[in-house]
Amino acid sequence: MESAQTSQQLASGSRPRADALVLFGATGDLAHKKLFPALYYLAQRGVIDGLPIIGVATSQLGDDDIRNRARESIAAAGIDADEAVLSRLTGALGYVSGNYRDGQTFERLAERLKGAEHPMFYLAIPPTLFDDVASGLADAGLATGARVVIEKPFGRDLPSARELNEVLHRYFPEEEIFRIDHYLGKEAVENLLVFRFANTLLEPVWNRRYVSSFQITMAESFGIGSRARFYEEAGAIRDVVQNHLLQVVTLVAMEPPVGVDAEALRDEQSKVLKAMDPVDPAHVVRGQYRGYRDEEGVAPDSDVETFAALRLGIESWRWAGVPFYVRAGKNLAKSATEVVVEFKQPPRLLFAAPGSARPHPNHLRFCLGPDEAVSFTLDVKALGEQLLSRPADFSTTADAFGTGRAADPYERLIDDALAADARRFAREDAVEQAWRVVEPVLEHPEPVVAYEPGSWGPPEADRIIEGDDCWHSPSGD
Ligand code: BG6
Repeated sequence: MESAQTSQQLASGSRPRADALVLFGATGDLAHKKLFPALYYLAQRGVIDGLPIIGVATSQLGDDDIRNRARESIAAAGIDADEAVLSRLTGALGYVSGNYRDGQTFERLAERLKGAEHPMFYLAIPPTLFDDVASGLADAGLATGARVVIEKPFGRDLPSARELNEVLHRYFPEEEIFRIDHYLGKEAVENLLVFRFANTLLEPVWNRRYVSSFQITMAESFGIGSRARFYEEAGAIRDVVQNHLLQVVTLVAMEPPVGVDAEALRDEQSKVLKAMDPVDPAHVVRGQYRGYRDEEGVAPDSDVETFAALRLGIESWRWAGVPFYVRAGKNLAKSATEVVVEFKQPPRLLFAAPGSARPHPNHLRFCLGPDEAVSFTLDVKALGEQLLSRPADFSTTADAFGTGRAADPYERLIDDALAADARRFAREDAVEQAWRVVEPVLEHPEPVVAYEPGSWGPPEADRIIEGDDCWHSPSGD
């Protein structure tokens, strides 16, 4: 009897599952913090049994060293690891050391990959090395039938993203290029799609007639840590707005897709970005936390933003005139990522007593992290003689989404890419459109304004908001 196809198999069509995984940058930060822990969980689930995994990096290490590093990284992630799973994982793990510009590195890799027809190359390395690695793989005959996974940031502006795409397309067809945006692998981000399209209640009001604004906040209560070198080149707009937060916008703004396959979903996401106006630099505030310039590795006169607030607009039938406010920052009052949808106020205030305040506009709040929740703020009758209303919150309970361990985004994305399921990956056109949207502020930035660590960013960010609305900080703070 034929077994039922999983949605992953349906989504990937008939493309083969990868039969080897190669991690470039195996000794780096991402591999340590995210990739080895994700591989542990995949090994625990039995989905990578028999898959050879080869780390590549410049450090002179051997197979045992990388195995020990994998164990360390899994322990550092706080995983109470099962020795049998660990042994299975490390038993599959090998290492090739060498310079990415040296053809012999790829020859040695080819030797280790003998027998693999569809290897998957995960490039957890700086984008400046993509070209060398892609051409090195091709010269060693390793690009044929292979798949490549690319970490963000994908370029640093529109021309460099196009150039990068061109380089990759020289060696890999678009359907074998998987651009990681780990936000797309988050349960709570995917819930935006499900919540919107699984509830009939929302569709009639999900448009410019009933929605007055969207606010997307990604607040982090910590600074840049040891990432000064990366951050000085990036800043908040390149680091999280152009990718994570614009992807979130596409999910709340897109039309219902015609299917659940990767192209149907990504066509709709891409359409949102195409209809988005390039940001007006007058609608952007860039901030920098006090003390940033004293961080190790930061230039004393750095103008890099650690906070950004932007007003975006989508010129579509559904959204024309509705502002999308987006803000992200480091060293803010708390860590929380949220989407708040504000609905228009009722036209006639039937219940308001003379002189009393207008009813509160309804809000729908999606908490995307650290905890997942969805809540509505609706008006109810306030206790008492008069017909007055007051806002009340209706929220999901902790177990509303089900119980059990939620897969980490990297765990899901590695598994998806191995299976050639591209639904949770950014497509070339969307990445380029997102760069087009933020390009004006990258080209003509206003100087950064300072803000206090532990605050909600510079007060100047308030000027981005139209009318008598204001920023809705996470959990009503
Ligand atoms: C990364 C950024 O892509 O996302 C970081 O480079 C940021 O600066 C991180 O801290 C946030 O991810 P998460 O999943 O913790 O919200």
